[in-house]
Amino acid sequence: MMRFYVIFLLMLITTLSAEDSCISCHSELDEERDESDKIVAKYLSGIHAQKEVGCADCHGGDPEAFDDEDEAMWDVDNFLADMEKQDQLDMCGKCHSDPQYMRMFSASIKTDQVSQYLTSEHGKSLVKGNQKAAVCSDCHSYHDILPVQDPRSIVYALNVPVTCAQCHADGQYMKDSGLPIDQLSQFKKSVHGVALLEKEDITAPACNDCHGNHGAAPPDVVHVKDICGTCHVNNRDLFQKSHLFSELSKEGFGQCEACHENHAVLKPDDSFLDWSENSVCIKCHLDGGSAKIMADHFYTIIDSLKENLKLAHSIIDSAENKGMIVSELFFDLEEARKVLIHTRTNIHSFSTAYVDTNAAPGFKAAQAAILGAQASLNELGFRRKGLFYFSLIITFLVVVLGIKIRRMKK
Ligand code: HEC
Ligand code: HEC
Ligand code: HEC
Ligand code: HEC
Ligand code: HEC
Ligand code: HEC
Ligand code: HEC
Ligand code: HEC
Ligand code: HEC
Repeated sequence: MMRFYVIFLLMLITTLSAEDSCISCHSELDEERDESDKIVAKYLSGIHAQKEVGCADCHGGDPEAFDDEDEAMWDVDNFLADMEKQDQLDMCGKCHSDPQYMRMFSASIKTDQVSQYLTSEHGKSLVKGNQKAAVCSDCHSYHDILPVQDPRSIVYALNVPVTCAQCHADGQYMKDSGLPIDQLSQFKKSVHGVALLEKEDITAPACNDCHGNHGAAPPDVVHVKDICGTCHVNNRDLFQKSHLFSELSKEGFGQCEACHENHAVLKPDDSFLDWSENSVCIKCHLDGGSAKIMADHFYTIIDSLKENLKLAHSIIDSAENKGMIVSELFFDLEEARKVLIHTRTNIHSFSTAYVDTNAAPGFKAAQAAILGAQASLNELGFRRKGLFYFSLIITFLVVVLGIKIRRMKK
């Protein structure tokens, strides 16, 4: 397979070399380069070669000048050599900012990368002369760029965190920016990081889902709920209508991240509400007060829903084990389970009345399941008792019959 690929590559290079002096001369130069650094082979593996975007389409120069490198490169006005990072905005933007050109290849491809980029922290910083800020080739590579949906692309969702972290986790590199360098390590521990990187669940957010690709900037404090809310719609809708939301905003405490963090979003559980070290309320409400009353209330509702469900489960199980048909009770059980899940979302209303009203059907369903299972167990008891008397009568009759037969024989 590998050998086939190498032969194919050589044939391709030979064909293209005849047409394109850049490829012809640079594939010779590549012979001196390391395997991992061969420009022409890299170029041929990427999307641009596939779409017949030639070396000269990016770098300028004259691809028809075969004899002389000066004629092919250095003497040509538009030849781009010794590039600054900023030159890429013109180089890549020449095509990628041109809707008419790009639409020949794809009806849906965006053409706003350069303009978006200029609004990002990277873009603003680069324009001010910071050569450390990320530019196109830092996030995409340059000769071997792949389509973004290709799992091997360095901006494919699963690979984005490492691509961003090549700078953002490098203390030396980031020193001048004064930014923390723990985003990847925090993210890896988070529910999102575990889902994305370990379970390969691409619905979980990578860095760019919260920060944008080309507009990369930290969401300002006012917009975090909307960033999280693109996926957690109900939490956002309830929270932004809550009284607590306006209180937190007034004090500049942030939004979702005030309780969940931004990079280290941990798996929440009911202990978040329990008034103990795990409580997310305690860090601002040390003295308890109305916050403790509310948290206790939510905790109690959730806890008693859980207890009711547990009880219903165990009675239904025991009825089922004894052979009773209880399948319809599973509908009630399912309903109660759903309400429990919704209640954990509903607490984001930070209203006890709202939570209570919406939890009520859950309690009702759990009760219905418990009563139903109890009734079928009672019925079983009744049947068992009946069976006992019935066999007593039969035994009696058999004995009487036995005596009668013996008498008749006599
Ligand atoms: C006859 C040989 C020859 C031809 C034809 C040629 N090059 Fe080069 N090119 C070189 C050599 C030699 C260098 C300098 C050494 C190196 O960088 O490997 C170079 C360097 C480059 C560089 C790096 C410049 C820098 O910043 O230092 C670029 C980019 C480049 N070539 C692009 C092209 C393109 C595009 C074409 C076709 C239009 C082309 N070359 C045609 C021989 C050639
Ligand atoms: C999609 C645009 C694009 C295409 C197509 C492209 N290049 Fe480049 N190339 C770049 C960019 C961007 C850089 C500069 C990267 C940097 O300086 O950080 C670069 C750098 C180079 C360099 C010098 C740096 C190095 O990596 O050694 C050479 C030589 C070069 N290109 C040659 C070529 C040749 C030959 C081809 C065709 C086989 C080609 N390029 C096709 C964008 C392109
Ligand atoms: C900070 C990293 C970063 C920088 C800088 C960057 N990109 Fe991207 N780019 C991405 C990510 C991440 C995606 C993938 C988005 C996705 O998965 O939909 C992407 C997607 C793309 C796409 C596919 C279409 C689209 O917009 O989704 C193109 C084309 C593109 N980038 C070109 C560029 C160009 C040109 C530049 C320079 C002006 C650039 N990128 C700078 C990270 C970056
Ligand atoms: C001469 C025009 C041209 C230039 C210059 C150019 N590109 Fe492209 N690029 C294309 C075309 C055409 C495609 C294929 C679009 C398609 O079919 O979806 C493409 C595809 C891409 C893709 C994949 C998009 C996707 O939908 O997955 C990325 C990323 C990309 N280019 C980045 C760059 C970067 C970064 C530069 C500058 C270093 C650059 N391009 C320079 C024409 C160009
Ligand atoms: C080439 C290195 C590099 C890469 C790759 C990179 N960044 Fe950056 N980023 C920087 C530098 C340097 C700064 C600081 C700029 C400054 O000092 O203003 C920065 C700033 C930022 C900021 C602004 C932080 C603030 O509070 O000002 C965000 C957000 C960001 N990057 C996100 C990302 C994301 C998301 C990715 C990946 C898609 C990424 N970066 C890839 C180098 C990089
Ligand atoms: C779930 C959403 C989310 C994800 C995923 C995410 N971030 Fe952030 N990030 C945020 C929020 C929100 C802030 C702003 C915090 C603030 O302003 O209080 C932030 C802040 C930042 C900052 C500014 C400095 C700092 O640490 O506060 C950088 C840089 C950054 N993120 C980079 C990254 C990188 C790199 C990744 C991927 C490894 C990533 N982020 C993943 C939401 C996210
Ligand atoms: C791109 C979509 C997306 C964005 C944006 C997003 N999340 Fe998530 N989030 C998910 C997915 C998917 C899961 C489920 C992960 C899993 O399988 O465990 C999740 C899980 C969670 C969980 C754990 C839920 C549970 O029951 O275990 C919390 C808490 C959470 N996210 C909070 C946030 C916060 C806070 C933000 C904003 C800073 C945010 N999310 C941004 C998609 C997203
Ligand atoms: C004042 C603190 C607080 C704020 C602000 C907050 N949450 Fe929560 N969140 C919690 C608590 C407490 C739990 C755990 C409930 C449980 O499991 O008993 C939780 C649980 C969750 C869950 C898992 C349960 C579910 O709904 O699936 C998600 C997802 C979530 N929050 C997302 C968000 C998002 C998105 C925001 C912003 C719009 C946000 N949270 C704002 C305290 C908060
Ligand atoms: C980031 C800090 C912060 C966190 C975390 C926090 N709060 Fe608050 N809370 C405030 C501020 C600020 C106020 C308004 C000033 C005050 O009344 O103390 C407030 C007010 C309240 C109030 C009284 C106002 C009202 O809405 O009726 C209640 C109740 C409350 N919080 C409940 C909670 C609960 C429950 C949690 C945990 C799930 C929690 N808070 C977590 C900062 C916080």
